[in-house]
Amino acid sequence: MTNRQFLHFSALPMSTRMVYTMTLLVLGTGYLFAMLQVFYSHAGLDGNPNNISAQDIRTAYHGSETDTRLVTALKGPMAGMLPEAERAVIFKWVDTGASAEAYESQVKPIVQERCIACHDGSNPHVPLLTSFDEVSKLVARDTGATIPTLVRVSHIHLFGITFIFFIVSSIFTHAYMRPLWLKCVIIVLPFLTILTDIFSWYLTKWVPGFAWFIIASGVVMGISFTAQWVISMWQMWFYTLPDEITECEGVLPILGGTPKRRDN
Ligand code: HEC
Repeated sequence: MTNRQFLHFSALPMSTRMVYTMTLLVLGTGYLFAMLQVFYSHAGLDGNPNNISAQDIRTAYHGSETDTRLVTALKGPMAGMLPEAERAVIFKWVDTGASAEAYESQVKPIVQERCIACHDGSNPHVPLLTSFDEVSKLVARDTGATIPTLVRVSHIHLFGITFIFFIVSSIFTHAYMRPLWLKCVIIVLPFLTILTDIFSWYLTKWVPGFAWFIIASGVVMGISFTAQWVISMWQMWFYTLPDEITECEGVLPILGGTPKRRDN
């Protein structure tokens, strides 16, 4: 019968609960930083840096009909790299035709001072900004994240997020929750939304309307993570099991097993 038994948190050794608690604390903090990362790398792509909108998500993956890659980067992840006044000079240069003369006289000194440290070719994932020709390539229409970038982030997310949810849902299996199907749904959803999230990136690159799938996937994943986290922590430390389960010391035989009653 042991293989059919379910072990509630309260039946676990104190040391195991410590491992679970600390793991959940650190992963929860990690999740918050992941949200901040999403915010800092997307907010502002639509021109408003204070929130993250569907337009931000569309621009990140599909590109922008109006902005160039350089302008999109300077409104988004690169915004903090230079003072507002210098950023305005670059925007003006792009708006007025991005000529070679104006580049040499106005833009080059800014790029030399603020950007070259990272954009000198030492990192192959970062575009070169060492010459007018290189910078010119970035003022063509913004077509969003490139396929190699999406592939790179996809494989990191597929492996990384699967690890996270394997750990969190393995812990959550020790929670007592009825109806059982709801517990199973909470466990299955994050794994499904990793897939829908990542496939939607490619779909959004192609058709911007799929940005809503990315947003929905993220929301469902977040709700699921929060539910597993809160229920696990709460049942580990504060929850009292219903009587019929407490009587068999938190070891609940499911699928028709008879609880081992203590006679004392
Ligand atoms: C501290 C290092 C650093 C500095 C300084 C920096 N960048 Fe970047 N930049 C990066 C990294 C890393 C990436 C690639 C990752 C990303 O897209 O966030 C990047 C990406 C970009 C991209 C490409 C975005 C895309 O579409 O993929 C542009 C354009 C860009 N930077 C412009 C600039 C400009 C202009 C400056 C100077 C005002 C600047 N960067 C300063 C590190 C830097």
